[in-house]
Amino acid sequence: MIKYLGSKRTLVPLLAEIVGGLGVESAADLFAGTTRVGQALRRAGTRVVSNDTASYSEALGRAYIEADGAVDRERLRRLIEHLDALPGVRGYVTETFCERARYFQPENGMRIDAIRAEIDRVAGSEVERGLLLTSLLEAADRVDSTVGLQMAYLKRWAPRAAKPLQLREPAEVEGPAGRAVRCDANELDEQLAGIDLAYLDPPYNQHSYFANYHVWETIVRNDAPGHYGIACKREDVRERKSAYNSRRTAWAALSGLIERLPTPWLVVSFSNEGFHDLADVRLLLADRGYVGEVAVDSRRYVGARIGIHNPAGERVGSVSHLRNTEVVFVCGPHRGAVERATRAAA
Ligand SMILES: C[S@@+](CC[C@H](N)C(=O)[O-])C[C@H]1O[C@@H](n2cnc3c(N)ncnc32)[C@H](O)[C@@H]1O
Repeated sequence: MIKYLGSKRTLVPLLAEIVGGLGVESAADLFAGTTRVGQALRRAGTRVVSNDTASYSEALGRAYIEADGAVDRERLRRLIEHLDALPGVRGYVTETFCERARYFQPENGMRIDAIRAEIDRVAGSEVERGLLLTSLLEAADRVDSTVGLQMAYLKRWAPRAAKPLQLREPAEVEGPAGRAVRCDANELDEQLAGIDLAYLDPPYNQHSYFANYHVWETIVRNDAPGHYGIACKREDVRERKSAYNSRRTAWAALSGLIERLPTPWLVVSFSNEGFHDLADVRLLLADRGYVGEVAVDSRRYVGARIGIHNPAGERVGSVSHLRNTEVVFVCGPHRGAVERATRAAA
C-alpha cells in the first residue's frame, strides 16, 4: 500500500467494526485515497463505491474494489512478468523526476517510463489497466526517495531508492465487487442512489493532496505536463484546488455535502487539528439523525515525528506535540443502532 498522508491505516479496524455494527449492505467511500477503508468494508461483505478526485486513487479502486473473480489472474501474472523484464527507456519520468528532481534513481525512472508506456498497449480492460497501474505505483513507492510526500525529495538518497524497481501482483480482495469512480464528492449525488452509507474522510487543512502526490497523478495520467519549481509539480497544481483545502470554502463544501447526501447512514472522520470545530460538525450531523462518536488518540503523521527541519535539512526546534485526536462520528435514523455501533467500537 502506498505511503499516504491521512491514510486511515490505524482506524481501519474501528471503521469496519462500526459499519459492520450498523448492518448495512452498501457503502460509498467518498474520499477514498489509498482505498484502505473501502477494502476493509469489502472484506466485511459490504458492496463499496470508491470515489476520489485523484487518478491514482481511481487506479487503486479498480484494483482493490472493482476487480473480481472475472480477472484472469494467470494472464495478469504473465503481463506483470513481461512488464518487469522490459529494458528502461529515457522518457518524461526519467527527465523530470530523476534528472531535474530526484524522486527516483534514473535506472528505476527509465523502467517506470518503459512500463507505463507498455501498460496502455497491453491492458485488455479498465480493471486490468487499474491492476497494472497499481502494481507500478506500489513498486515505485517502494523505491522512492521522499518522506512520503512529493512536495520535496530527500537531500540525500533514501537507501531504498538504490533497490531495483520490482513489480508485484496486487493482492486479491475478498468480498462483493464494487465500483471505482473519480468525481468531486459534492457532485456525486445521483451515483449514490440506493447506497446505505457514506464514509467521509475529507482533507481537513490547507495541504493539497493533488500537490502532495503529483508524481503518482502524473504516472497514472501519463500526460507529460509542464511543471514548475524544484519539486517539478504539475502546472495544473496551481489551478486545481479542492474546496476542502481552504478555510474560506471548506465549511460550505462539507455542510453542502452532508445536507444533500441521499444515504441514510453517515460515518465521518475528523481530526482535532483541522479547520472545523468538532462541535459544529456534531451539530451539522444532528440535523440528519442520531449522532454517536468515538474518539481515537493517534500518532501524528511521519513529518511531525521526525521533527522540524530548515531549508538546509538541519533539525530546528522541537515538535510541539506528537498526538492528535481523531473523532469518528456515526449518524443515522436509528438511535439503538448508532449506540450499539459506537459502543462496540469503543
Ligand atoms: C484524508 S485523504 C483520504 C484518505 C483515505 N481515507 C485513506 O485511508 O487513504 C482525503 C482524500 O480526499 C481527496 N479529495 C480532495 N478533495 C476532494 C473532493 N472534492 N472530492 C473527492 N475527493 C477529494 C484527496 O485526493 C484525498 O485522497
